[in-house]
Amino acid sequence: MLIVVVMVGVLLMVQTKMKNFIHKNGVFVQFDVQEEVGMKNLKPMKVKNRSNKGELLSTSVSPYHDWDLFAADYEEMMKTLKIFVYPDAIMSNKFSTFSSIFLPHANPFDPKLGNYFSEHMFKIALLGSSFVTKKPEEAHFYFMPFSINVMRNHPRVHSASAIEDFVAGYTDRVSSEYSFWNASGGADHFYVYCHSIGRDAASKHQKLHHNSIQVTCSSSYFQRLYIAHKDIGLPQVWPRQHEQVLNPPDARYKLVFFAGRVQNSLARRDLLELWKNDSSFDIFSGSSSFPYEEGFRRSRYCLHVKGYEVNTARVSDAIQHGCVPVLISNYYDLPLANILDWSKFSIIVNERNVPHLKKILLSVPKRTYLNMYNNLGIVRRHFAWYSSPKKYDSFHMTVHQLWLKRGLHRVDW
Ligand SMILES: *[C@@H]1O[C@H](CO)[C@@H](O)[C@H](O)[C@H]1NC(C)=O
Ligand SMILES: *[C@@H]1O[C@H](CO)[C@@H](O)[C@H](O)[C@H]1NC(C)=O
Ligand SMILES: *[C@@H]1O[C@H](CO)[C@@H](O)[C@H](O)[C@H]1NC(C)=O
Repeated sequence: MLIVVVMVGVLLMVQTKMKNFIHKNGVFVQFDVQEEVGMKNLKPMKVKNRSNKGELLSTSVSPYHDWDLFAADYEEMMKTLKIFVYPDAIMSNKFSTFSSIFLPHANPFDPKLGNYFSEHMFKIALLGSSFVTKKPEEAHFYFMPFSINVMRNHPRVHSASAIEDFVAGYTDRVSSEYSFWNASGGADHFYVYCHSIGRDAASKHQKLHHNSIQVTCSSSYFQRLYIAHKDIGLPQVWPRQHEQVLNPPDARYKLVFFAGRVQNSLARRDLLELWKNDSSFDIFSGSSSFPYEEGFRRSRYCLHVKGYEVNTARVSDAIQHGCVPVLISNYYDLPLANILDWSKFSIIVNERNVPHLKKILLSVPKRTYLNMYNNLGIVRRHFAWYSSPKKYDSFHMTVHQLWLKRGLHRVDW
C-alpha cells in the first residue's frame, strides 16, 4: 500500500516537471500544469483587480509583449502624432457624383455595413480626433480618404477595374496638386479599407503599391499586393452598439462553435466533414440552428477558419463574447501582433491540422484555458469601435500601428 502511494507520488512529480513547451501536431502549447480541460469544473479564475485590465499581470500570462513599453509609447503618441487629411473628406463638393466616396458615412452602425464597418469607423474617428492637423508640414502621415466600400456600391465606379483606375487617378491628382506626395514618394501616405477588393486598388499605381501604407482587414502575407511589415492589419469588427456580458467558463458546455459557408476553402470543407457529427462540436455549414451569438456564448472555443479571405469579423466576435478564438487561417498577419501576444488569448492551428483539432483543444491545460479566457476580457477593448472613440480602442490601437512607422526621411518641398 505504502509503496503504491510513493510510486504515484513520484509519477505525479515527474509529470508536473514536464511542463513548459509541449509540441503537439505542429502546434506549440505552453503548459503550466499537466491537466486537461474536461467538460466540467470550469470555475472562473480569480483576478485580483479587474480594473487593472492586465497591466499588472506577470509577463508569463499577460496578453501584451510589454505593457509598460507600449503604455508609455501610447501616451507619447497621444501628445505628438499629427495626421494631415486630404480635404476631400471635409470639403468635398456635395453635388459632385463622387463626393460620397470621400465623405464620412452618415450611419456607420447600419448593420448593412457588416464586414466593412471598421473602414468607416476609422475615418469618422480620425476626422473627429486631435491627431488631425491643418498644417501639413507638421504631419507625420497623410491620409487619402477614399472608401473602397462606397466605391464598390457606387454606380459609376463599382467594378474592380474602375476602382483601380479611380484610385490611381486620385493619387496622381494628389501628387500634382500638393507637394507632400513627391517629398516621400507616397511612403508617409496611407489609406484604409476592409473590402477585400481594395487589395487590388493600388495595382495601377506602382508607387502607391510599393510605398504607401495599406491599413486593411484582409492582411494576408500570402497575397500579391499585401506587403508584411509595410502594411497594417485592421481589426475587423461587426457593427455592434452594446458590449456583451461575458458568459463564465463553467456555463460554456460546448467545446467548439463554427457556422459558415464552405466557400472555396479546403479547411472549412475538412472541418465540416470531420467534425459535424461530434456532439461536443457545434459545427454548421451556413447558419446555426440557434441564434449566431448563442454559439459564442455557450462554447469555449470559437473557430475562425479561412474562407475566401484569411480574415472575417469572427475573430473579434469571439473575443467580444469571451470565446477563445482558434485561428485556422494560414498566413494571416494578425492585427496588433507587435503589441498583443496572440498566443496568450488564442490558439493558432495550421490548416492541415484540422483532423487533430479535438486532440489539440482537449490537450490545453485548464489553467492555460482560464488564463486565455481572462485575457479576452482584457484585450476586447482593442477590438471595438465607438461613436466617441475611447482610449485603447480599435481606432487608437490602429493609429498606434501607424505611429510605429513614423520617422521617414523626406525631401524638401
Ligand atoms: C485597481 O486598479 C486601479 C488602476 O490601477 C486602481 O486605481 C484601483 O485603486 C485598484 N483597485 C483596487 C481595489 O485595488
Ligand atoms: C510630382 O512629380 C510628378 C512627376 O514625377 C510631377 O508630374 C508633379 O508635378 C510633381 N508634383 C508637384 C506638386 O510638383
Ligand atoms: C456523419 O453522419 C452522417 C449521417 O449519419 C454519416 O453519413 C457520416 O458518415 C458521418 N460522418 C462522420 C465523419 O462520421
